[in-house]
Amino acid sequence: MELDGKVAIVTGGASGIGGAITRVLTRRGARVVAVDIDADAGAALEADLGDAVAFLEGDVAAKETADAAGALAVERFGRLTSLINNAHASRQKMFTDLTEEDWSLSFDTGLLATRNFMLAAYPELRKEGGSVVNFGSGAGLDGQVTQAAYASAKEAIRGLSRVVANEWAGEKIRVNVVCPIALTPGVANWRDAYPQMYDAVVAKIPLGRFGDPEGDVAPIVAFLVGDDSAYMTGQTLMADGGAIKLH
Ligand SMILES: NC(=O)c1ccc[n+]([C@@H]2O[C@H](COP(=O)([O-])OP(=O)(O)OC[C@H]3O[C@@H](n4cnc5c(N)ncnc54)[C@H](O)[C@@H]3O)[C@@H](O)[C@H]2O)c1
Repeated sequence: MELDGKVAIVTGGASGIGGAITRVLTRRGARVVAVDIDADAGAALEADLGDAVAFLEGDVAAKETADAAGALAVERFGRLTSLINNAHASRQKMFTDLTEEDWSLSFDTGLLATRNFMLAAYPELRKEGGSVVNFGSGAGLDGQVTQAAYASAKEAIRGLSRVVANEWAGEKIRVNVVCPIALTPGVANWRDAYPQMYDAVVAKIPLGRFGDPEGDVAPIVAFLVGDDSAYMTGQTLMADGGAIKLH
């Protein structure tokens, strides 16, 4: 299969887009360490996917979680070739209402977790080359209101990704960014609570719908994990139905 021999860490890998990535990567032959704070979702994932997945319960904001994930990949699957920094928690408030705690939540689970997992993965990734996929957002590119803490962290992740793509290119470690729009269970709750806002967002998506986590977003991540994208690094890929065109 296309991803035979790949071993990936997927943060937030038990549900939402991360859960879809875990499923698609394992279906295509990869082995996955799924890291998540949701123990129930992790147990369900392990019951479903069996030996192809190792679940690690942990908060990505803690550096120890990143170190434990790297160690678990080697212990269970013998190596680590890929890292998907997908988890990111944040609160939506107007800029003047954001507290120090709100800023810390977004930067600790977003930028610093991405940094810590990249550092923890590096000793293994450099052995035979590898692929890192980090997550940005149209909220950062577009400057969406109420998203100051989240958008700032997301754009910092894109900057970090470009620098490290250049620094690690010589070791054949690629670093790319995906900016998705996807109808996760959380987004579905928001749609049900604010149907008019949901319709307004859909109206700005040329392909006319939110993406499906498993059908639309995870395959783009699988492409970046696999060798078909061997000549791509430092890029931002918009998995958003055409909502934003990067220049
Ligand atoms: N869904 C979208 O339309 C959309 C749009 C733009 C960007 N994104 C980005 O895509 C990524 C995935 O989004 P999603 O909608 O699937 O997210 P989500 O909120 O559904 O959460 C995904 C998973 O992350 C886990 N998680 C949350 N905080 C964690 C923590 N501190 N430590 C470990 N695990 C944690 C959750 O338990 C869940 O299983 C995120 O980086 C998000 O910012 C999503």
